[in-house]
Amino acid sequence: MSKIAIIHHSGSGKTKMLAEAVAEGVRGVVGAEVIELAIDSKKIVDGRYKDEAVFAALATADAIIFGSPTYMGMVSGQFKTFADATAGIWFGQGWKNKLAAGFTTSGSPSGDKQGTLQYLVTLASQHGMIWVSLGEMNGIYAGHPEATAINRLGSFTGVMSQVAPTPEGRPTEGDFATGRALGRRVAELAAKLS
Ligand SMILES: Cc1cc2nc3c(=O)[nH]c(=O)nc-3n(C[C@H](O)[C@H](O)[C@H](O)COP(=O)(O)O)c2cc1C
Repeated sequence: MSKIAIIHHSGSGKTKMLAEAVAEGVRGVVGAEVIELAIDSKKIVDGRYKDEAVFAALATADAIIFGSPTYMGMVSGQFKTFADATAGIWFGQGWKNKLAAGFTTSGSPSGDKQGTLQYLVTLASQHGMIWVSLGEMNGIYAGHPEATAINRLGSFTGVMSQVAPTPEGRPTEGDFATGRALGRRVAELAAKLS
């Protein structure tokens, strides 16, 4: 049995939708348990994030998948307060050798969201974690229409989704499939390593 934690922040629910797809992918792997966690803005006081229950749950995970919207070309401020709150764990290398992976949503097709995924790689590397790439080819190359193509944005570092910044905006079916693929891949690799 391997435990895969998914921790995300979502301001208006778009990244949360993608987090649910990643969780679905994890659940599709026999023997994988998913721990779904969200960064609650109310737990940020005077700029500092504190949530003992979240960190206790993350400590039990074999893999942690990080998710954040792209805000101003990077992770959201809320996600960053979470990352800053891991400094004590970093000091003791408490997450060393756990698997890590990531996903992000943005409003614009580019939106500079590579910066978000690169930051997640840096965070994972500081913790001595093992970064898991997406491992999916761009489905458009195989002739699939953009709406249903897996990894339509050609992001190999992690999952990228572009979502219209309107109340109805949601990731494409292909983006959801891409999220499920990442969850599945991390869960399968965690099973191999356990
Ligand atoms: C403060 C702020 C900054 C944003 N910066 C960017 C950006 O740099 N690039 C972009 O494409 N979209 C940007 N957006 C749009 C969000 O990335 C997009 O709406 C995202 O899907 C929101 O996800 P959420 O509902 O999980 O918060 C920004 C939105 C906000 C509120």
